[in-house]
Amino acid sequence: MTRLRRLRKNDSIRNMLQESRIQISDFVYPLFVIEGNNIKNEIKSMPDVYQMSIDNVLRECEVLKKLGISHIILFGIPSIKDSIGSSALSSNSIIATAVRAIKERFDDMIISVDLCFCEYTDHGHCGILDSNGNVDNDKTLEILARQAVILADSGADIIAPSAMMDGQVKAIRDSLDSSNFINTLIMSYSTKFASAFYGPFRDVANSAPSFGDRKTYQQNPSNRNEAIRESLIDESEGADILMVKPALNYLDIVRDIRETSLLPLAVYNVSGEYAMLRAAKNAELIDYERMLLEIMISFKRAGANIIISYHSKEVANLI
Ligand code: PBG
Repeated sequence: MTRLRRLRKNDSIRNMLQESRIQISDFVYPLFVIEGNNIKNEIKSMPDVYQMSIDNVLRECEVLKKLGISHIILFGIPSIKDSIGSSALSSNSIIATAVRAIKERFDDMIISVDLCFCEYTDHGHCGILDSNGNVDNDKTLEILARQAVILADSGADIIAPSAMMDGQVKAIRDSLDSSNFINTLIMSYSTKFASAFYGPFRDVANSAPSFGDRKTYQQNPSNRNEAIRESLIDESEGADILMVKPALNYLDIVRDIRETSLLPLAVYNVSGEYAMLRAAKNAELIDYERMLLEIMISFKRAGANIIISYHSKEVANLI
């Protein structure tokens, strides 16, 4: 008889044989930066997640550092939106300004920046529209490349393109390299599903599309092979880190990509996943802390190296 039970005999043996672990250096904390001063707006569906002006973002970075969290990803909420998202194309954009301010105070903070246009366009789509109201892939590549250079120049360590335009990683890599930002990394949202789980995020980031949806550029949740191909294409275009988003209901894809690529792999534990768990906690339906850690370990077990999560601060307090 094989006696697996003896491997679980006591805490120290279980600990020695533990196959996956979470540590705080795995975590990336998302921050939503809004123009203005002294602003901290809580979002109804996402308790403890705020839109913050730069002064409050700096205060938050202080808190994060104390918790041992040294990697953030920034999203911008500009005051002016137009059809081509021009406010993202200036070195005084909300995110470029935030990156400079954070780097000045916390030079060892790793800063990723979300690279997309949905937060900056008045129609809420991820790029420039053509005359039929469809996103013009190739025109959008040009502005993504420009936005990437502006953010690299402001001091961002990692550019995280999430617009899902074909060829975006190559376009961004080429423009970073030709502007001499050869050491700026690209963490591509390489496998990004068209998901209902982004709902609460779009409230925080004011980025819901004003018409239509994102199904032409985000992936069909039922397609496994296509999901893997999307990540492999981004690898071939020069991505440094791949990503699967959302996380929880796509762990099969995380495992698939882990087994087909040797790049570091991130998961994005998105707003809807956070909202569900917090709602269940508030309703006192679950053992929240245990469930939270069990979810986090499942990301590591599936093969992720990096976890982008609104729960990062809670995790830091638990481990
Ligand atoms: C696009 C972007 C989105 C998210 C991250 N980057 C929204 C979308 O694609 O509609 C969602 C993140 C979340 O739900 O937490 N800029």
